[in-house]
Amino acid sequence: MTKILLADPDPRTRQELATLLGPRGFALDAAADLPAAMQPVEQGEVDLVLADLHLPGGGGIELLQRIRQHHPDTAVVLLSAFGSVQDAVAAMRAGAADFLGKPFAAEQVLVAVDRALEKAALQKENHALRTALDDRLRLDNVVGTDPRMQAIFKTVQAVADTRTTVLITGESGTGKTLLARALHHLSARRSGPFVEVNCGALPESLLESELFGHVKGSFTGAVRDKVGKFEAASGGTIFLDEIGTSSMAFQVKLLRVLQDRVIERVGDTRTVPVDVRIVLATNKDLRTAVQKGEFREDLYYRIHVVAIEMPPLRERPGDIPGLAEHFLRRFAQEHGRPARSFTAPALQALMRAPWPGNVRQLENLIERAVVLSRAERLDLGDLPAEVALPAQTTATAGTTPSTGPLAALPQGQGTPGPLRAALAAPERSAIERALAACGGNRERAAALLGIHRSTLFHKLRKLGIRGTGGNPAPRQL
Ligand SMILES: Nc1ncnc2c1ncn2[C@@H]1O[C@H](COP(=O)(O)OP(=O)(O)OP(=O)(O)O)[C@@H](O)[C@H]1O
Ligand SMILES: [Mg+2]
Repeated sequence: MTKILLADPDPRTRQELATLLGPRGFALDAAADLPAAMQPVEQGEVDLVLADLHLPGGGGIELLQRIRQHHPDTAVVLLSAFGSVQDAVAAMRAGAADFLGKPFAAEQVLVAVDRALEKAALQKENHALRTALDDRLRLDNVVGTDPRMQAIFKTVQAVADTRTTVLITGESGTGKTLLARALHHLSARRSGPFVEVNCGALPESLLESELFGHVKGSFTGAVRDKVGKFEAASGGTIFLDEIGTSSMAFQVKLLRVLQDRVIERVGDTRTVPVDVRIVLATNKDLRTAVQKGEFREDLYYRIHVVAIEMPPLRERPGDIPGLAEHFLRRFAQEHGRPARSFTAPALQALMRAPWPGNVRQLENLIERAVVLSRAERLDLGDLPAEVALPAQTTATAGTTPSTGPLAALPQGQGTPGPLRAALAAPERSAIERALAACGGNRERAAALLGIHRSTLFHKLRKLGIRGTGGNPAPRQL
């Protein structure tokens, strides 16, 4: 219920306002001076304050200023018996939603109250939207507990507030663009623009005018001056994606910007200084490109100041449960679906899959599963066959033992061996992965696998698994 506070030293005015507003369904509170008015405001209960300009204990403007500073979602309308123009101007300047002279007409008060509440609601919504947006871009939204990811977060935090050039490499879908955005939003430049340019998508001539701008008449089709992306990114960050496929001629120009921090518009000889943080990304191995003569060596060293390599998802299976749950929450909310968690077999299957498309592939797969399922817990059946099928046909080569009695077993097609032995390989793989994901903690690994702790111990002994990552097998084994 919308709450209005009537802050006026005169009991008759308070009564008058209460008689007017009470029947309209507002919850009302009253105060005769500034300290008494601040109490309910500080408890965050008040949507609107109607306050007299000459409120004892500090005055209406002082009340307004305090509310604006500490409780910006509460609106204030000021009233005054000596309603001079100066008072009205001072009130509005200080951020009052409205100003009314006393005596007031009932209609006047109602209109002012409606308008002030509407404006406050809009402001609140705006504020919530902005926070939600910031939230999505914060580094805590980049999921990763793997030590390599943790090291990356540390680097990002350490360099965020500098203007250092950052190069992000890694396979497609590993989170390069996401990290570049997070870097911008962690930096002091966050209120400046984040401008993204795909350097692989445009032919050289267009790319140049896109980035540096051009002057009218500099080439056919240049009908007016155009500001380039470097200038548009001034005060913020420019993200040059797919830098590995840019032409040699373009690389020369880019080197100049990096060295001198100036650009020249196409068709213009004047130089324009640019204040931008440059972040570059590529899924190519630049060192090899340099060796092959496809990438300039001088540029390579110039951009290799802070280099971040995003590890492929298959090399950090421990991140898969966290990422899968993160996407599950997001898509369930976005699409209004009931999914809340995964069953242990579903999580195991996700951890076993090879993910050639990395996090993007996982994200798309979870979205599809969440949209299609009406269940609260997503099970194997909710996952597509390429992930849900047993390890023999889908797991990466490294997951099956290459030595020992199981190595000789036929995998996939061909004559099957004894059932027990055939099942041992995927079982071992699932257990080893669960242990790795849980840092060797057997309790958690058992929970992840959906089996009892003692069953896990039994299986560890049976399969001769001696613990992972330097965690010795428990003494009782
Ligand atoms: N660590 C992560 N935490 C949460 N979401 C992630 C993470 N990594 C990637 N994503 C999500 O996965 C998708 C792919 O990531 P992104 O676009 O950043 O990859 P990329 O490396 O830039 O790929 P490409 O080389 O194809 O441009 C995005 O929707 C991104 O939000
Ligand atoms: Mg990208």
